[in-house]
Amino acid sequence: MYTTKTLQDEITKLKKEQDVCILAHAYQSQDIWEVADYVGDSYGLSLQAAKAPQKTILMCGVRFMAETVKILSPEKRVLLSNPLAGCPMASQLTPEKLTSLKEKYPDYTVVAYINTTSELKTICDVCVTSSSAVRIIKNVKNKNILFVPDCNLGSWLAEQIPEKNFKLIPGGCPTHMRMSLRDVENARRLYPQAQLLVHPECLNEVVQQADYVGSTTGIMDYAKKSDCKEFIIGTENSIVQHLQFACPEKRFYPLCDQCICANMKRTTLADVLFSIQGTGGEEINLSDDVLTEAKRCIDTMITLGN
Ligand code: 13P
Ligand code: SF4
Repeated sequence: MYTTKTLQDEITKLKKEQDVCILAHAYQSQDIWEVADYVGDSYGLSLQAAKAPQKTILMCGVRFMAETVKILSPEKRVLLSNPLAGCPMASQLTPEKLTSLKEKYPDYTVVAYINTTSELKTICDVCVTSSSAVRIIKNVKNKNILFVPDCNLGSWLAEQIPEKNFKLIPGGCPTHMRMSLRDVENARRLYPQAQLLVHPECLNEVVQQADYVGSTTGIMDYAKKSDCKEFIIGTENSIVQHLQFACPEKRFYPLCDQCICANMKRTTLADVLFSIQGTGGEEINLSDDVLTEAKRCIDTMITLGN
């Protein structure tokens, strides 16, 4: 019988023997964090994917993240640890729909949230993550920005960059959209001393109430450095647990009990082991056309983001 510890030991041994780098998104569980070579937000994972020396990269996250790794390192074997882990937001906008939006708004630069399929990225100008979006969009020369597909992140960006002219479309993260102004009012009543830290994928009514708005890594860094002792966390609830591990002297409360991403939670420690053993996971393969065209969009993100 396996325990968490014996599974982790086996993964650690095998990943060294087989030259595997494990990348984990911050929403993965603590047992996966502990075997990962790198944990971070979507932007950090993209940078890490481009420079990891190992021959195989195992992504513990969702499909678009594994596809981003493949696009950045096409010569590497890239595995998604659970083939069913997709991001519902990534499939909200089809290439056909975007093509007709581009015809309607020909003078706009198309900026895609990285939470999109690689097919969609082939017809976008640049992609962004929540932690890099403000910097990148400020660096785009065009004043007109068609931002897809997350209108909540988009409206927060439009406020941060008033000099740009944004067009947004309906779309967003079903997990973050579960949090409401009512949740903020309840949490503020229960924890009056706590600061509210939220992800920009949240509804505007929530973002407007926040003491800090940022990516998963941004939220974690802010809470670690802050002198405040209590925090209400408005993002996927795994961050509440990770922060409690990182800062035992502070207290962290979820803004909403239902803020759990079922897709991020699909990956188990056993999936990680089976992927390395070759009995589970899925190898990511993309056509040459998709690799070339989507790479242009991601490379532009890295160039403008730096
Ligand atoms: P970040 O890690 O960039 O904050 O993104 C959050 C998210 O929802 C990823 O799917
Ligand atoms: Fe997609 Fe939202 Fe889950 Fe992130 S948290 S993977 S955006 S559904």
